[in-house]
Amino acid sequence: MSKLRISCRAPAKVIISGEHSVVYGYPALVAAVNIYSRVIVETVDEFGPHEICSEKYGIGKVIGNALSGPAVLKPLARIVSVFSESEPFKGRLKIRVSSEIPPASGMGSSASISVALAYALLKTVYDKPPEERVFKLAMEGEKVAHANPSGVDVAAALRGGLILFVKDRGFERLEAGKGIFLLADSGMERSTREMVSKVASLKEREPDLFNIVMTCMGDLTVRISRVLQNDLVEAGRLMTLNHLLLSLLGVSNSRLDSIVWSSIFSGAYGAKLTGAGGGGCVLALIDEKSIDRVEAALKNINAQPRVLKTVEEGVRLEESS
Ligand code: PMV
Repeated sequence: MSKLRISCRAPAKVIISGEHSVVYGYPALVAAVNIYSRVIVETVDEFGPHEICSEKYGIGKVIGNALSGPAVLKPLARIVSVFSESEPFKGRLKIRVSSEIPPASGMGSSASISVALAYALLKTVYDKPPEERVFKLAMEGEKVAHANPSGVDVAAALRGGLILFVKDRGFERLEAGKGIFLLADSGMERSTREMVSKVASLKEREPDLFNIVMTCMGDLTVRISRVLQNDLVEAGRLMTLNHLLLSLLGVSNSRLDSIVWSSIFSGAYGAKLTGAGGGGCVLALIDEKSIDRVEAALKNINAQPRVLKTVEEGVRLEESS
């Protein structure tokens, strides 16, 4: 077998509306954004364990289903073992992973890496890796990383752009609006798995409240998707309502609430936590004229702001030799 070197990158994502409710079949509005992870896969014509080398977490070796190395690499090890069992690949893989996406912050870091890895691996076998295969393989990693992933993060990293996603049904591509998204980092890491199971236990304890909140969230998401292109005032108001519903689910906290209200009081059209909550980031909808004021207010409370750009392109092959 000839030696191959394949390099891929995939974008991060922000959820504009519909986190958590998307797990229960309601729509989510999500945008792929201009922060990336990168994976390089090299095939080596010899036997031995596959190697995953992560810039952040160190080296792991994969033999069959077993990983020796940092547990945080388990989702990637799962992708590698499913790939080598199900595709006609013989030989050893050397994988290098790097990422600009802050982990555990609600930006879909694990999904972005899983998609870049799945695409690069399948590229060793297929000239044009089929989209459903990339999605399915990346989801193998997400199932290890999170309790019950909806697939929204994977869809955004794979396809790019602004999309309205429904679990197990697919997604619709939408026009990106004129508003500017500002991301503010609370500086608090959290686990998506824990937040998803917190919401699942609310469903058990308070099924009526849970159902009302879910229905409202689904409704808000569809309404935001319709106004984001032409009515920023309304889109912002609906995003803030969504934050209040997420608070009812128990996934906000005082730090996230204070970032949300600082954004709004300094001129944002609206703001909400984004991703699983419990920490991570807040997403504020602003325009050119409020940008300086909102940024200054967020810096003042130590929530590093970052202007995001929606990117039309999802996973991309950067090099293949
Ligand atoms: O915080 P993140 O980037 O892992 O996003 C999780 C989104 C959830 O809706 C909470 C879970 C999911 O699988 O959709």
